[in-house]
Amino acid sequence: MYQPVISGTGVFTPSQVITNDELVVAFNAYADRYNAEHADEIAAGTVMAKDHSSSEFIFKASGIEQRYVLDKSGVLDPAVMHPLLRQRDDDEPGVMAEMALDACTKALDMAGLTGADVDLVICAASNMERAYPAIAVEIQQLLGAGGFAFDMNVACSSATFGIQAASDMVRAGSARRAIVVNPEICSGHLEWRDRDCHFIFGDVCTATVIEREEDAKDGYFKVLSTRCATQFSNNIRNNNGFLRRSRPDGTADRRDMQFMQNGRKVFKEVVPMVSEHILAHLEAEGVTSDQLRRLWLHQANKSMNDFIGRKVLGREPEAGEQPNILQDYANTSSAGSIIAFAKHSDDLKSGDLGLICSFGAGYSVGSVLIKRV
Ligand code: COA
Repeated sequence: MYQPVISGTGVFTPSQVITNDELVVAFNAYADRYNAEHADEIAAGTVMAKDHSSSEFIFKASGIEQRYVLDKSGVLDPAVMHPLLRQRDDDEPGVMAEMALDACTKALDMAGLTGADVDLVICAASNMERAYPAIAVEIQQLLGAGGFAFDMNVACSSATFGIQAASDMVRAGSARRAIVVNPEICSGHLEWRDRDCHFIFGDVCTATVIEREEDAKDGYFKVLSTRCATQFSNNIRNNNGFLRRSRPDGTADRRDMQFMQNGRKVFKEVVPMVSEHILAHLEAEGVTSDQLRRLWLHQANKSMNDFIGRKVLGREPEAGEQPNILQDYANTSSAGSIIAFAKHSDDLKSGDLGLICSFGAGYSVGSVLIKRV
């Protein structure tokens, strides 16, 4: 058995930003347009008029101030309301692979490695650009990595589930050096025309290098243990899938073919599930919460994280103890907790303990207990 460690992380951040104000201007223009086009049905009571969105509501309800996206022109065009991404030819890198290459290169640089050192690539994300060949195999080729590669999807928990899979394989010896990469093009599955959720997501890609302790250069994080759990729920769901065209009633633009959620229920049900999960994980490892120097939580909602932090630590978290990045990135699905970890872990001292935790659709929750060396 080998001791797995995290020796590098990398973040690819798209260059385009949408502020809440820009988003709300576009949404409201779309709503006005829709209401004008459906004026007769609205007057007859057969169609509901669309209400305006507001920046104040978005910030108050979620803590989000802006989001990065791959294409803002389509998202902010009231006649389009989704990103416009060029269809790639089969002989050029896909969009996810391109983002992944940037994040992986940064993570490998940090670990003092190159792609050739890697023998396992896991592409773990909420959505895959195509069914097959696996995006991970394309990334493996672009990196010049050996070994094998595969895709996995556990929605917002994909990164921590991927880290568990990679750590277990490194521990067992079936892989020597792994990279877990999370290209999240959330703008592609968000329904930008739905006021209840149009502000939630952003795009990003994160990567995490996992290798044997004996191979790693100093300044790594030992993976002490991981814990994953799932429990079925329809409260976050997307019905888009390969059987879509096979359904006799299928229309391409049905609302359930994009991200759907019952946000209030998710909030109420997931907060206790996650707090209990983390506390049980710590207890099983004989770690008390006052020994934890940092919590890097999934980045969906600031109040949700405040609740979880208070429950786990048994007190108000101090500044910097539970860093949020959602004000800048919004919810980036599985990548959120890894962005927080990548940007807020450098200052930890040898022996400090921390916990990465993601949660979301499934429901799913994954936690990774780490120790700075
Ligand atoms: N602008 C202005 N008002 C809005 C609005 C918008 N964009 N969206 C909703 N509202 C209104 C609603 O119509 C509602 O009005 P009403 O009280 O008159 O009915 C009111 O604001 C509250 O709406 P609600 O949806 O209950 O808000 P909320 O406080 O629950 O916040 C979320 C919404 C989505 C931010 C919050 O529920 C959340 O973050 N949940 C967890 C989500 C999560 O983790 N999902 C995982 C995704 S991977």
